[in-house]
Amino acid sequence: MKSKITIKDFLKKKGKEKIVMITAYDYPTAKLVDEAGVDGILVGDSVAMVVLGRKSTIYLELEELIHHLKAVVAANPRALIVADMPFGSYEVSIEDAVRNAIKLVKHGAEAVKLEGGKEIFNVVEKLVKIGIPVMGHIGLNPQRVLRLGGYKLMGKKSEQAIEIIDDAKALEEAGAFAIVIEHTIAEVAAEVTRRVKIPTICIGSGPYCDGQIAVLHDVIGLGETIPYFIKKYADIGITIRKAVEKYVEDVKQGLFPGPEHYRTMELKEKEEFEKLLRKRYG
Ligand code: KIV
Repeated sequence: MKSKITIKDFLKKKGKEKIVMITAYDYPTAKLVDEAGVDGILVGDSVAMVVLGRKSTIYLELEELIHHLKAVVAANPRALIVADMPFGSYEVSIEDAVRNAIKLVKHGAEAVKLEGGKEIFNVVEKLVKIGIPVMGHIGLNPQRVLRLGGYKLMGKKSEQAIEIIDDAKALEEAGAFAIVIEHTIAEVAAEVTRRVKIPTICIGSGPYCDGQIAVLHDVIGLGETIPYFIKKYADIGITIRKAVEKYVEDVKQGLFPGPEHYRTMELKEKEEFEKLLRKRYG
């Protein structure tokens, strides 16, 4: 049996072997993605949108994320389990961030992910100091969608591109073990990857990173709208709908359950049963 993947393995892979991560939010999919060979599973705050049907990742409570984290942990994956810190769980104060990150770790997270750069330096530094591995998240930060006014492509202008490099450097200095770069110009992600010693894991930021991460529901075709930067590998949504349509049809037409789906009484017992029935109810 292959051994558990740790943050050390992530660091060793930089520049040598691509790191592959995907989200999962429950027991069966955590098992499946782990069996498929991913290096890391993110219990992402995207659960708010793709599972809970909310408008944005902003609308997610820590306790809700923990509920999903527990299901992923129960799958006992070989992959590293990273839990997102939801919006509001690390911005108020360092004490609050520490308390919340510890909660995630106590429920089985092996690392936590926070959105932001320079402005969260102190939080990241503190978490790392007390022994909690931190994955950074720069470029597009969906938890800031209200201020951004949409899910914008980042790093188009040189000034913003430099800010992104600064953010990556700050996270590295604070002790982060990896950085997610979301929806950012490919050259900027490439430059970050060259300039930090920790692995970069990209989503919508091109191929020049140390790894890739994707939202499971997008990859398997279960999402309502799939971003242009995601490749759909299956149409599970269509498969589910067709299967349930067939189930509805079979039940309506009396084709399910068939004789193989139920058990009948032994003949002798049936005679006895009918006798008792007649005696009691006529
Ligand atoms: O929550 C999530 O799915 C994420 C990915 C987009 C990286 O943060």
